Amino acid sequence: METMMLLVLVASSVLSVFFLRKLLSSSPKEMEAIPGSLGLPVVGESFSFISAFSSPSGIFNFMKERQERYGKVFKSYVLGRFTVFMTGREASKILLTGKDGMVSLNLFYTGQQVLGPTSLLQTTGDAHKRLRRLIAEPLSVDGLKKYFNFISTLAVDTLEQWPAKKKVLVLEEASTFTLKVIGNMIMSLEPMGEEQEKFRSNFKTISSSFASLPFNLPGTAFYEGIKARDSMYEMLDSTIANRRSAESSHQDFLESLIMKHTKSGDGKGDDQENKLTDQQLKDNILTLLVAGHDTTTAALTWTMKFLAENPQVLEKLREEHRLILVKRSDGATLSWSEVNNMPYTNKVINETLRRATILPWYSRKAAQDFEIDGYQIKKGWSVNLDVVSIHHDPQVFPDPEKFDPTRFDAPLRPYSYLGFGNGPRMCPGINLAKLEICIFIHHLVTKYKWTPLEKDGSVQPTLVRMPKNKYPVFVESL
Ligand code: HEM
Repeated sequence: METMMLLVLVASSVLSVFFLRKLLSSSPKEMEAIPGSLGLPVVGESFSFISAFSSPSGIFNFMKERQERYGKVFKSYVLGRFTVFMTGREASKILLTGKDGMVSLNLFYTGQQVLGPTSLLQTTGDAHKRLRRLIAEPLSVDGLKKYFNFISTLAVDTLEQWPAKKKVLVLEEASTFTLKVIGNMIMSLEPMGEEQEKFRSNFKTISSSFASLPFNLPGTAFYEGIKARDSMYEMLDSTIANRRSAESSHQDFLESLIMKHTKSGDGKGDDQENKLTDQQLKDNILTLLVAGHDTTTAALTWTMKFLAENPQVLEKLREEHRLILVKRSDGATLSWSEVNNMPYTNKVINETLRRATILPWYSRKAAQDFEIDGYQIKKGWSVNLDVVSIHHDPQVFPDPEKFDPTRFDAPLRPYSYLGFGNGPRMCPGINLAKLEICIFIHHLVTKYKWTPLEKDGSVQPTLVRMPKNKYPVFVESL
């Protein structure tokens, strides 16, 4: 994987030298007024960036070194792009609010091609707002209620397998769990069987194509990714046709979006503006999958890792869940109202997302010229908000390396904690992610204990931070 990332890096750097004018509207000359170093010819500072990436503290040291030398705004050349990095509450407010269409998301070329032009991640302004309202509706707290039993039963079934194994790779188990949940929510996929296998294999191939070389030739990860995307779309097409024929009723995203929001065949009729085409529907179902899967998988894995490393926190968490058991009448199982009343568990999730900062920076492209911290940012530049430094600011989070969920006892100032982002692009999957983790944690801490089998702090060099060794543990019943 590391070799792959380096190949990507070198290839994209070489490409950018040849096609610089075409690919990027920023250039070293234009950026003269911004402090910082663009590093070596061709590769820039990419090697130090990638090596920081996989270290236990991630890009924190890369950022800190440069912030001490240049200040809160500096330029660099990483991953094939001239980039301005910035940090702090003010910068995050300006960039994440992105008033008047000031910035757009800055996906890599391969991601743009795989996700398709109508993905939420590729729309801006009013079109983004409209699309988001439709797509996010099934992810609201009320919309999620109908999936509660499925998620809870799946968590119980998953955990029951663990004590029989010599080694549980938590990251892999979390990945299977979260994929089965979303597959069921989107299109009522059963957790086992041929369809689930096809869905899983297509998704894994799509996912790996995101960090691939931008060459669409047979045999390349990018080519395979596009093929898997098309196969996934065939699955969705057949389910959409099935739902339209209304032979049977399903309680899933596809059914609810088709019934309420897809355009009628002739494109006429009431309120067609606020409805989705089949292409928009498919591009955005894929977007939810891509944006929601690795993030939730990583969050669940880091939560278990931090809990094992902080026994006092684990004990306090167990106490919250034991109390739920005590209050519950005999024979009953976890309920919707119980899962919505887990205040300490929610603080543990927030602290996990702060400490791990699984998305270390949020990437934007300037859609117009603007000023930030006294620096002129030009249209077309890549601007990255460094979230790691915000989450490790000792003024806001004293002793930032300590895992301490009580930091979230009192509300924090806006833009000082960005676990799920903020502003118009704040994560629409926040309720689902928290629901999955709360349910899983409840069944885990009330019935099992786990012991890590390795002490390795390395992190995978992928865009979402995950433990490199997949966090192997040994699990026993309590
Ligand atoms: C713990 C798990 C998760 C974390 C930490 C997380 C984090 C984030 C963050 C930080 C952003 C904003 C990024 C930016 O401003 O550049 C975001 C956006 C997004 N997330 Fe999540 N996410 C999680 C789970 C999910 C789930 C479960 C889904 C869907 C099923 C989802 C779907 C999305 C989508 C579609 C966006 C883009 C929103 C837009 O551009 O309007 N996420 N997420």
